[in-house]
This record gives sequence, structure tokens and C-alpha cells, in this order.
Amino acid sequence: MSVLSGRRVLLGITGGIAAYKTVELVRLLVKAGAEVQVVLTDGASQFVTPMTLQALSGRPVRQALFDEAHEAAMGHIELARWAEIIVVAPASASFMARLANGFADNLLATLCLATAAPLCLAPAMNQQMWQNPATQQNVAVLRQRGVQLWGPATGDQACGEVGPGRMLEPDALLQQICAHFSSGLLAGARVLLTAGPTREPIDPVRFIGNRSSGKMGFALAKAFVAMGAKVDLVAGPVTLETPSGVERTDVETATEMEEAVLGRVTSCDIFVGCAAVADYRPEIVADQKIKKNSEQMAIHLVRNNDILATVAALPDGPFTVGFAAETQSPETYAEKKRIAKKIDMIAANLVGAQEGGFERDENALTLMWAGGQVVLPMADKGELAKQLVKLIAEHYENRHTIKNT
Ligand code: C5P
Repeated sequence: MSVLSGRRVLLGITGGIAAYKTVELVRLLVKAGAEVQVVLTDGASQFVTPMTLQALSGRPVRQALFDEAHEAAMGHIELARWAEIIVVAPASASFMARLANGFADNLLATLCLATAAPLCLAPAMNQQMWQNPATQQNVAVLRQRGVQLWGPATGDQACGEVGPGRMLEPDALLQQICAHFSSGLLAGARVLLTAGPTREPIDPVRFIGNRSSGKMGFALAKAFVAMGAKVDLVAGPVTLETPSGVERTDVETATEMEEAVLGRVTSCDIFVGCAAVADYRPEIVADQKIKKNSEQMAIHLVRNNDILATVAALPDGPFTVGFAAETQSPETYAEKKRIAKKIDMIAANLVGAQEGGFERDENALTLMWAGGQVVLPMADKGELAKQLVKLIAEHYENRHTIKNT
């Protein structure tokens, strides 16, 4: 499978004669399995038509910042989050000046400002314009902010001059994009992750829930993306922003979470069950709000399926990682769970204590596997997620290597 398979590439095109070459880049990206969303500036549309790019990418091309029809389908902030990478090719001198100064006066510049995805530019302009101190200063500012510059190449220019300012060829740009997705310990791995609580309805206004905030799961999703993985996140009801590059599916109940997971699990390499899934649900959900007519009431609960154990029992299933939130002896209970659910790794943590656990920004974990364990001391959940993902990646790699030898 191509390293670009299913990758979401936002391809910006600005005004310059090299734009005609980007048409070929769209074709190459789509052929490699990427999802390509083209965004044109007004200048670019003088050189290439939305119709051509739409036909090649299979998606309506975006151009205007204030476009009601498109905004209703996917708003510009959503689009900025959708992108796993933004590539601007060609990037004109004027566009780079805009970016360096933080302007958001057209759709593409706004997306570049609003995204957390890596931003890569393929500059193309007259050699004198490229060497102008104003352009060079903008380039330095952009580089210092972590923007990647691919090219320009040196050679013959459309204006008849010779020098630096040619856009890299579509093939070379494709290689750069592939290289971007091939870096990282988990490059190309597909991760399915559950996060947050579930809500089990009692009647139209009440539910059984728990204190999970989803913070740990969302931090893991972000850390997996940073390691090069493609991440599918199935989230219970939480109020957290989707990390950049993550494909998110929102669910409410354990049953919905199970359906969402089972519908996606066959195409994943690693499954992490970080959600605090309700173990039981009311057997009957009242159609109308239940009235307080008696002094006592009983709700009959039935057991929900264990999503993690179901995934772990799949023939040829993914590498599985679970969590065990315990109020006492977390390691002892967690190890029992790891064995009972037949999962590869389990992260045990103490909840209900003064520090760490549910609803907090910090946590401490003990990660356990057959024959080993490591204690990850109290740290910010983002930091902890990075350490956890690194360990998961190493163990996944080992299993992978053993399976394939
Ligand atoms: O057995 P316990 O609920 O403590 O196990 C916790 C682990 O199992 C977590 O990884 C959680 O996401 C997963 N789980 C699940 N489906 C359930 C219950 C728990 O996937 N119904």
C-alpha cells in the first residue's frame, strides 16, 4: 500500500505560470491514493481552471473565503483541521509575504494561519524576485517558524531569465510529500483509538455517565500523528478540539462506540482503547421523562460488550492496548485485565486520588506487557502521551518483526 493511501493533502495553488505543473501533481497524488483538496487563490485561477482541478481531484475546488455553499459543507476552520499537510505549489513571492506577515485576507492564507498541520511551500518566481532581500527576509521568517521550503530549483525561467526560482517538478514534490509521511517511528501505521466517556440513556433527559474527560485519548491521538501514524479517533461526548490530522467520529453510547470501532477495525494496525466505556446500560430506555412518583426507583442494567476484548479476539487482529483505571492496586488489577482480555499492553492508572486520572491535565501510568512493565511518573498528559506512544511503537515494531520473520 502506498504511504499516501488515505492521506489528506490540502494543495494550495497561487498565481504563477508554474501552476500548470501542479495539475500534474494533483494527478500523481490521487494516483498514489491521497485525498486531495485543492484551494486556489484568485491569481492562480488566471493560470489553471477549477474545472480541471476538480475533475482530477474528484472534489470541488475551494477559492472564496466567504462562500456560503462551501462553508456550509465544510467550513474553512474544519478544512484547516482536515488537512494532514498543507502544500502550496507554486508559492508566489506575494503569497509568502502574506504568510510571513500573518495576513488572513484570502482563503488559502487563512487556512495556512488556522491549521496546526505542517506547512510546505514550493516557491516559484522570477530569479530576481527570489533573490530580493524582501523575499529572502520573508523566507527566513517562515523557515524560523517551522515552514518547510521545497526548492526552488535553478534553471531556465518562463520569463527567459536563468537562475533560482523554478518550482520543483511534480515528481520531486510527490517524493517530498511521500518522504514527509514516511518519517516517524509509526510512518504508515493505521491507529484506531477510543477516547472519552460513554453516555447510556435512561430517558430523553438523563443518562449514566462517568468522569472521563477524553484528555488522555486526545493527547494520544496527537502523539500518534506526530509519529507518522494515520489516526482514526472514536470519541464519546467530550468538549475537546480534534487534533490536527485526526479523523474523528463522535458517538454517545457504548453500543455506538462498538459499532464505530468494528466498522473500522479491519483496516487498522494498532487499536488503543482509552475510552471509559460504561460497563452497563439501562435495559429499557423510557420514551418520556420519568416522573418522580415513588420514593425509590430501580433501573435494571444490562452488560455492554467489551469492545477491547472483542477487538483482541479478532483473528489476525491489530496490536491492542488498553487502559485500566483503578481506585486501588492499579498494577495488580491491570495485569489481570491484560491477561483476561488477551491484549498486548495495558496502561494502569490510579483514579479518584488527589492527583492524576480523570478530568485532570496530569497523569501517572504503569505500562505493562507480557514479561515487563515501566512506570511513567506524573506528567502533563501531552508529555505522557508521547512517552506512551513511543513505547507502544517499539513493542508494535517488535511484534511486527517477529510476525514477519
Ligand atoms: O474492564 P475495564 O472496563 O476496567 O477495562 C478497561 C479497558 O477496557 C479500557 O481500555 C476500555 O477502553 C476497555 N473497555 C472496552 N469496552 C468496555 C469496557 C472497557 O473497550 N465495554
